[in-house]
Amino acid sequence: MSQTHKTQVAIIGGGPAGMLLSILLHREGIDSVVIERATRAHVLERIRAGILEWSAVELLRRAGVSERMDKQGHAHDGTRVAWKGERHFMIDSYKYSKRKLMAYGQTYITEDLYAEMDKIGGQVWHEAEDVVLHELTDKASYVTFTQNGETLRVDCDYIAGCDGFHGVSRRSIPESVQKTFEKVYPFGWLGVMSETPPLEDLWYVQHERGFALASQRSPMLSRYYVQCSMDDKVENWSDDRFWDELTQRFPPDIAKQIVTGPSIEKSIAPLRSFVSEPMRYGNLFLAGDAAHIVPPTGAKGLNLAASDVYYLWRALVTHYKENSDSLMDRYSEVALARVWKTERFSWWLTGLLHVFPDQSPFETRAAEAELDSIAESEAGLAWLGEQYGGFPIEDWG
Ligand code: APR
Ligand code: PHB
Repeated sequence: MSQTHKTQVAIIGGGPAGMLLSILLHREGIDSVVIERATRAHVLERIRAGILEWSAVELLRRAGVSERMDKQGHAHDGTRVAWKGERHFMIDSYKYSKRKLMAYGQTYITEDLYAEMDKIGGQVWHEAEDVVLHELTDKASYVTFTQNGETLRVDCDYIAGCDGFHGVSRRSIPESVQKTFEKVYPFGWLGVMSETPPLEDLWYVQHERGFALASQRSPMLSRYYVQCSMDDKVENWSDDRFWDELTQRFPPDIAKQIVTGPSIEKSIAPLRSFVSEPMRYGNLFLAGDAAHIVPPTGAKGLNLAASDVYYLWRALVTHYKENSDSLMDRYSEVALARVWKTERFSWWLTGLLHVFPDQSPFETRAAEAELDSIAESEAGLAWLGEQYGGFPIEDWG
């Protein structure tokens, strides 16, 4: 037996992009449903980055899901960069663009979004299998999937593909109209969570042993990373080995301030840059990781998902409220312009701060000199501060 439902926007994927879009649409009286492959518990326990640009902070506020973030998040002006084992400067986004950043884990954001969906009675189907998108270029698009052996069908005006890099939405666009761009990096990040007080600031460290990063989740929860080799295994990294490696990469006076302790989570993530163009095909609009991936250097993944959602939300509101497709028709172009600027930044910062397996001594010195020259240039510091703070989104729709 199959059940049929009807909605205005069918959202594939209940990660941060899909859930935020659904809540924002609800605030404007636009109906949507979310179709998610994983269990709710699985979605809620994923650990990811935790730095929000100010435009993402404002968007969460507009969606009405900012109460805990505003209480517990750590608003800060920027991040410190260290190199040559001693020099350091501040990427001061607030000074150069009047935009702060907020340290607040994506895990908490996902929890807040799910709590809000419960409150507003939003429809989320979990454990949806065999999701298929139909008639994307026709007037009557629909989505089918199975749940607990039952087949469901959702008729809709539009489909938002928010199902991440491995989702079905991007793969539903014919290869003849799709162009992809990819760069895979020859190293990974080993991440550790520990119930220890973090450093006062975030730190990115360029070092001949490899990149390192100190981040934060709360006054008693720290997140650290070290660059590791692609084929490394978490089992090779005892806590002692991790802290030893991390502190060797930091300037000694900062390393002394790092409070070590038992890890509560350890994982290795690969690094990739990826863009799929266009972000619209007929009635399907891609948003977030479904359309693009950035390496985590710069913490732009969630922020890009938020800006896509903002553009798509405004486009859908303009369609339904003003009977105009002017923003829908420009969605792909406008979202991709911001995506590419952010892709460029994340790729560049990754190249600058990591050690590549085939890196020559010349390239190492050149990277150090690049940091020297940024640190000594007001223009260099301003440009870096602006880019790190994120490109504005508010002037659309
Ligand atoms: N059908 C339905 N849901 C699917 C399918 C599918 N075929 N494939 C994947 N999904 C779900 C995943 O289980 C996941 O919950 O889509 C969701 C996509 O969520 P995310 O991967 O978190 O992507 P997004 O919402 O775009 O958020 C981007 O997450 O990966 C980080 O760095 C990234 O911080 C950024 C943010
Ligand atoms: C994190 O807090 O997990 C984090 C911070 C900055 C990054 C990446 C990840 O660039």
